[in-house]
Amino acid sequence: MSPGPPDEEVLERAAAGIGGARRVVVLTGAGVSAESGVPTFRGPDGLWKSHRPEELATPGAFARDPRLVWEWYQWRRDLVGGCAPNPGHRAIARLQAGRPDTVLVTQNVDGLHAMAARETGAEGARILELHGSLFRVRCARCPWRAGRREAVDATSEASLPRCPECGALVRPDVVWFGEGLDREVLEGAFHAGREADVCVVVGTSAVVQPAASIPLATLEGGGVLIEVNPERTPLSPLAMATIRAGAGEVLPCLLRA
Ligand code: OAD
Repeated sequence: MSPGPPDEEVLERAAAGIGGARRVVVLTGAGVSAESGVPTFRGPDGLWKSHRPEELATPGAFARDPRLVWEWYQWRRDLVGGCAPNPGHRAIARLQAGRPDTVLVTQNVDGLHAMAARETGAEGARILELHGSLFRVRCARCPWRAGRREAVDATSEASLPRCPECGALVRPDVVWFGEGLDREVLEGAFHAGREADVCVVVGTSAVVQPAASIPLATLEGGGVLIEVNPERTPLSPLAMATIRAGAGEVLPCLLRA
């Protein structure tokens, strides 16, 4: 996975930058969970290589075939349910435990950051889940929403869960293509981006908006970017340090301060 050991000098410079920062924001994407066994979206084995997003992750797809959409989401819930946080998630949780004003903004819906925070004693950590969670559901019609880890039976449309308030179908509480993000969560994320003097960007291809613009808010506020990703991204040329390594491999060292 890793393209060779990361450059020690770059790593030291980046670690010193984080250690000396007044305020840190961390933005993560699917790559931070890759070493836990959760598939990413793009890349050779990515979810969007074998599944068409417009058939599975849009409000139109759910209206057309809710059973198919739930079958796919239950498959992902099963897959993620068997995964555990890796050293990368735990290093971020330790950073948040030690520096409680650190905000973590994640595009991931796998809940592994929250699990790592609980395991690390960082329960109060501020984790903004921009794209929702696989383990929450909401009504497709009314404002009802709730946590749900219990499996969804997607054998037929009749077996799908229904809203206890209005009887409409219940859907995953994740953001689908063509939908807006939760306003409060988004404002919190951009505020954290602007306030930070260091934004650590981990495991995201940085092509999905508005998430990819949060690091730009840090730059506009006079802060710097540090990127952890085995591959180059559109943010790489803007970063003061780019660490070409896996998150689980390098974050424990990078965030030790
Ligand atoms: P992507 O699949 O687009 O990108 C994953 C990134 O992780 C790539 O840049 C990889 O190089 C990098 N990567 C792979 N292994 C890594 C490792 N071990 N350590 C660090 N980085 C690694 O995933 P995202 O950028 O998260 O949205 O995708 C953003 C959004 O697109 C997702 O939240 C999802 C998707 O459509 C929705 O579903 C709304």
